[in-house]
Amino acid sequence: MRILALESSCDETACAILENASLLSNVVVSQIDIFKAYGGVIPEVAARSHLEAILPVIDQAFQDGNLLKNGQNDWSKIDAIAVTHTPGLLGSLLVGTLTARTLAILHKKPLYAVHHLKSHIFSNWLTASPSYPLLALVISGGHTQIIRMTSDTDFEIIGTTLDDAVGECFDKVAKILGLPYPGGPSIAKAAKSGNPEKYPLPIPKIKDLNFSFSGLKTAVLRAVQKEVDVPISFPSHELKNLLTPEQINDFAASFQNTACKILLQKLKKAQKIYPDTASIVFAGGVSANSALRSLAQKTFEKSPNSPKLYFPDLKFAGDNAAMVGIAAYHEILSGRQPTDPYSLNILPRSEIS
Ligand code: KG4
Ligand code: ZN
Repeated sequence: MRILALESSCDETACAILENASLLSNVVVSQIDIFKAYGGVIPEVAARSHLEAILPVIDQAFQDGNLLKNGQNDWSKIDAIAVTHTPGLLGSLLVGTLTARTLAILHKKPLYAVHHLKSHIFSNWLTASPSYPLLALVISGGHTQIIRMTSDTDFEIIGTTLDDAVGECFDKVAKILGLPYPGGPSIAKAAKSGNPEKYPLPIPKIKDLNFSFSGLKTAVLRAVQKEVDVPISFPSHELKNLLTPEQINDFAASFQNTACKILLQKLKKAQKIYPDTASIVFAGGVSANSALRSLAQKTFEKSPNSPKLYFPDLKFAGDNAAMVGIAAYHEILSGRQPTDPYSLNILPRSEIS
């Protein structure tokens, strides 16, 4: 079975073609260069950029997969279309879903609407086969969740953030430190030259498996203000001018270390509650973080039942369409029926279920 998958939930326009679980092509056009100048995504600009990019990206995916006939995209070689339908930016999702449903109607292909967080989780199946039951730590720009899965189709959210997502926190702390957008990779780079113990930051005391990251962001802000000796009313966007490169690196390292500890302490707690956990899979943009990857290995290597850890290949950690295709493939294998292209809705429940 060949699946053509589309992803446009935020600021990447992507198309991938899979033959069963193997990838024939994987095209990602990122809008990062546009949004660097603004320090963040502007939804209307993102939607318009998706509109410009989506058809060329699809053409490129056919070309890269050697699926052309007389120089045209050979739709007879495609068996199904998959698309991200939620959650994400409204205008961005609309471009992907309208394109997918139009192509499904035009070329008479079954259409599968895929949840973005399921795609992030299944990005791990592009390179491995984690066994169940598992815990998935979904850490992206919009979500921070621990999800227990007992099969390809059984998802239970056992922990979630009560406020900011961890990726959002990386992005906001990067702004305070004057590091370029997107904040996650910038913090990770600066942290490599910093001392993670230099600035002690608080770990929230939440008893259950939920997270909170807004306090950590404020704690960094207050620590920076204290370090450069300005009052709390001092404009946060001017703080970066008062910091030395060494202080920036130390704040980046201290913040990253604390954020990783918060994530892994909760994950460890979840693993104790569910001792039958066979695998732990990391998913979403923040799972690209190398400090998190090595701290995770250390955290779980000595645990009693030692679950096997999985991280997505770096090219599948951020938003891409290969993960949408593999998620759809697993859903189809589990008997999932196609979505009616005339009634594909981008706003059903946005929680994974
Ligand atoms: O999954 P993703 O690409 O998009 C969403 O679905 O949100 O995640 C984007 C988030 C951003 O907040 C970005 O700063 C963060 O992932 N991120 C990282 C790293 N690479 C991307 N955070 C920490 N370390 C990284 N290396
Ligand atoms: Zn994502």
